[in-house]
Amino acid sequence: MVGESVTTSFVVCLLITVLLFHHVYANVEGDALHSLRANLEDPNSVLQSWDPTLVNPCTWFHVTCNNDNSVIRVDLGNAALSGTLVPQLGLLKNLQYLELYSNNLSGPIPSDLGNLTNLVSLDLYLNGFSGPIPDTLGKLSKLRFLRLNNNSLDGPIPMSLTNITSLQVLDLSNNRLTGPVPDSGSFSLFTPISFANNLALCGPVTGRPCPGSPPFSPPPPFVQPPPIATPDCTSVLQNLKKILKLIWDSLKDFL
Ligand SMILES: *[C@@H]1O[C@H](CO)[C@@H](O)[C@H](O)[C@H]1NC(C)=O
Ligand SMILES: *[C@@H]1O[C@H](CO)[C@@H](O)[C@H](O)[C@H]1NC(C)=O
Ligand SMILES: *[C@@H]1O[C@H](CO)[C@@H](O)[C@H](O)[C@H]1NC(C)=O
Ligand SMILES: *[C@@H]1O[C@H](CO)[C@@H](O)[C@H](O)[C@H]1NC(C)=O
Repeated sequence: MVGESVTTSFVVCLLITVLLFHHVYANVEGDALHSLRANLEDPNSVLQSWDPTLVNPCTWFHVTCNNDNSVIRVDLGNAALSGTLVPQLGLLKNLQYLELYSNNLSGPIPSDLGNLTNLVSLDLYLNGFSGPIPDTLGKLSKLRFLRLNNNSLDGPIPMSLTNITSLQVLDLSNNRLTGPVPDSGSFSLFTPISFANNLALCGPVTGRPCPGSPPFSPPPPFVQPPPIATPDCTSVLQNLKKILKLIWDSLKDFL
C-alpha cells in the first residue's frame, strides 16, 4: 500500500516536471516576443493577439511559425509602434524575416540580433534607431537583405559585414555613419546609393578619400606632348616634284 502510493506520487511528480519543462521550453519564443510587446507603445493595438498564456506564439497576428511551431517571421512594418527592441529577440533561433520598418522605434540595435543565424532579411529602415551597427551582424551568414536606412545610426560600418557572402541588398543611407566604407567581400557589389547621405563616410564608393590615405587612382603626371612637326612648304613642294617626276617617268615608259 505504502509502496504503491510512493510510486504514484513519483509518477505524478515526474509528469508535472515533464509538463512544466515542456511548457517552459515551448514558450521561450513566446516569452521573447512578449518581452518585446511589453517594451513597445502600440497605439493601434496591432499586438493585441499576443497572449503569453498560449502554448506558443504561432496563432498570434504578425507572427509566422514553421511546422515545429518555431517562429520564422515577425511582420510588423508600418505598425505605428514606438519604444525600443529587447535583447531577447536573439532567442528566436529559426527567425528568417524580421520586418520592423516604418515605425517609430528608437534606441540601439541589440547586438543579440547577431545570434539569429537563420535570418534572411533584417528590415529596420525608417525608424529612429541610434547608436552603432553591431559588429555581431557579421555572423548572419544567410542574410540577403539588410536595410537600416533612414535612422540615426552612428559610428563606423563594421568590417564584419563584408563576410556575409549571401548579401544582395544593402541600404545604410540616411544615417549618421562615419569612417571608411569597406570595398572588399560582399561590399564589392554595392554602389553609392547604399551609403548616401551619411555624416562622414569616406572611401572610393563615396568619391571622398579617407583622411590620411592617398587619393584613389591618381591621374598620371602631366607630360608636355612633343610638338608635332609641321611640314614646311619647301619640303612639300620638293616631295610633290619627286612624285610628279616618278609618275611622268612611268607614263613615258608606258607610252
Ligand atoms: C547571443 O550570443 C551571445 C554570445 O554567444 C550571448 O552572450 C548572448 O546571451 C546571446 N543572446 C541571446 C538573447 O541569446
Ligand atoms: C515617437 O516616439 C517618441 C519617443 O521615442 C515619442 O515621443 C513620439 O511621440 C512618437 N511619435 C509618434 C508619431 O508616435
Ligand atoms: C529618408 O531620408 C531622406 C533624407 O532625410 C529623405 O529625403 C527620404 O524621403 C527618406 N525616405 C523615406 C522613404 O521617407
Ligand atoms: C570573417 O569570418 C572569418 C571566419 O569566420 C573570421 O575569422 C574573420 O574574423 C571575419 N572577418 C571580420 C572582419 O569579421
